[in-house]
Amino acid sequence: MKKEYKAIIFDLDGVIVSTDECHYEAWKMLSDEEGIYFDREINERLRGVSRMESLEIILERTEKIYSEEEKQEMAARKNGYYVERVMTIDSNAILPGAVDFIKMAKNNGISVAIGSSSKNTKLILERTGITKLFDAVADGNDVKNSKPAPDVFLKAAEKLGLEPSECMVVEDADAGVEAALNAGMDVLAVGYAKNNRKAKFCMNNLEEAKGEMFNV
Ligand code: G6P
Ligand code: MG
Repeated sequence: MKKEYKAIIFDLDGVIVSTDECHYEAWKMLSDEEGIYFDREINERLRGVSRMESLEIILERTEKIYSEEEKQEMAARKNGYYVERVMTIDSNAILPGAVDFIKMAKNNGISVAIGSSSKNTKLILERTGITKLFDAVADGNDVKNSKPAPDVFLKAAEKLGLEPSECMVVEDADAGVEAALNAGMDVLAVGYAKNNRKAKFCMNNLEEAKGEMFNV
């Protein structure tokens, strides 16, 4: 697959870095405070979904009607709990094979970018020490419509100066796979999305993918 693409655009959470537990704990704290039922199954539906849209999914389990202002406050409160946790992560949060995969792509002349829904992308890249690995970063601060809308991946391609058809996306969320397809990009699905049948390639993680892609 390596010759086909000029760039690889990586989702961040669940592909490069493991922040799942931080998100789960932060949403769980908020839900408990509000007396709203929340579990790991509901948490899976938040993968790749923006903060405000995630909150709407959580609010499906309550009859209570919240004002826009209350929703903003709740999302901010969750983010406070999340950032507190993210501040404690380091390079140990990088997922197996991720850095090798990125370096091999670059050695093969392939550009690498981030396409993430998270508005905390820069903080996470800094905490894990991998900011400099990427040629471009597009995140939740750059776009209005979040995945499954194609916007963040189109933005990443634009920042790289490439056409969507020249890019491959790596995703762990079904919403992200949809977003990439909507952008006209091929997808390598890993992790939680590894059985997504719409993806062109499916692997367990980047450790396995690096062997397939770069013959190591
Ligand atoms: C990623 C995660 C989602 C999260 C979203 C927004 O896509 O997979 O679970 O809701 O980013 O993150 P943020 O850091 O902006 O709240
Ligand atoms: Mg993800």
